[in-house]
Amino acid sequence: MRYRCECGGLLEVEADWRWRPTEARGLWRYRSLLPTLDEAPPVTLQEGGTPLVRCERLAAWAGVRELSVKVEGANPTGSFKDRGMTVGVTLARSLGMKALACASTGNTSASLAAYGARAGLPVSVLVPAGKIAAGKMAQALAFGAKVIEVEGGFDEAMSLVEQLSADGHVYLLNSLNPLRLEGQKTLLFEVLEAASPDRVVFPVGNGGNVSAAHKAIREANATGLSRATPMLTGVQAEGAAPLASGSYHPVDKAETLATAIRIGRPVNADKALRAVKETGGAFAKVSDAEIFDAQRRLAREEGLFVEPASAAPLAGLRRLVESGVVDRSESVVLVATGNGMKDPDVVSRYASPPLRTKADLPSLLKVLS
Ligand code: F0G
Repeated sequence: MRYRCECGGLLEVEADWRWRPTEARGLWRYRSLLPTLDEAPPVTLQEGGTPLVRCERLAAWAGVRELSVKVEGANPTGSFKDRGMTVGVTLARSLGMKALACASTGNTSASLAAYGARAGLPVSVLVPAGKIAAGKMAQALAFGAKVIEVEGGFDEAMSLVEQLSADGHVYLLNSLNPLRLEGQKTLLFEVLEAASPDRVVFPVGNGGNVSAAHKAIREANATGLSRATPMLTGVQAEGAAPLASGSYHPVDKAETLATAIRIGRPVNADKALRAVKETGGAFAKVSDAEIFDAQRRLAREEGLFVEPASAAPLAGLRRLVESGVVDRSESVVLVATGNGMKDPDVVSRYASPPLRTKADLPSLLKVLS
């Protein structure tokens, strides 16, 4: 199979179509199903290999037979983006790219900043001013990226960075870049090696992850990695739901407190719609209140602290069961895309503030009573 990519530098590689597990840890285990240019060692932080956690209480709450959560917050920078970045940055370096860039709602910028640092390449990230979670901003700054706040939303930042890369100034590592999606396929490879779920549910922003999953299923089936064909299902926030009807309706002023998926013009809209349609999946949209309720339940009932966008699949699944779209006999995997620690500020929406005591036992007992 040939990969062709023109994201600031032409790339054509032959990929070997056999599934041959390697000894590598994490996602480079799937190297035979990933595009590689040469034998240069990957730019890696040992991403992938994340937990798939059975959640019986939440299965009962959502109304399905079996429920597991794929905990992508366990990746090195705390989100699934690391899967795409290890592949994207490895190839960017092999191609001789001198500077990397992306637009981001936060996680892509944190991840690119880390892998750029690891590769020794300068990184610029464009983020919507005042609209990314504190932890994600801290990561990008700590990793030494040039962080540029754009006066506008993600969609404006994206359009700006596309213009910048079209002029050849930087190599673009948004999910428009097919190499990112190649790396993100490994999420589904891992799920399909461990289980054969009826359905896998994603939060959808740019639609990259769900598109990568679609490609992963086709390749897993074609190469003998797995015969399973789960229905891919996408969940969006009500105020940022350009795909939730099953066709594309751009949203001019996307709004949601789940800032990771605050996107009105997804760059992978067509691929994402196809992924859901061709696998017999569905879309749902949920309110911010439902998202926070789901975030609280994942934390309180299962010990899983995920960021708001990553809780949307649980809220969406419950809705789809209630409306009869999802059958109660199904086994479902929810993709928890990012770590809750990235966005600590939202927790005050459903948790009480800490208690306080003087440093003596009677005072402590009083506070505890
Ligand atoms: N969940 C989280 C935590 C995300 O950060 C994103 C996307 C998504 C879900 C949606 O994934 O775009 O592949 O449909 N975040 C991007 C970013 C846009 O810039 O970090 P998608």
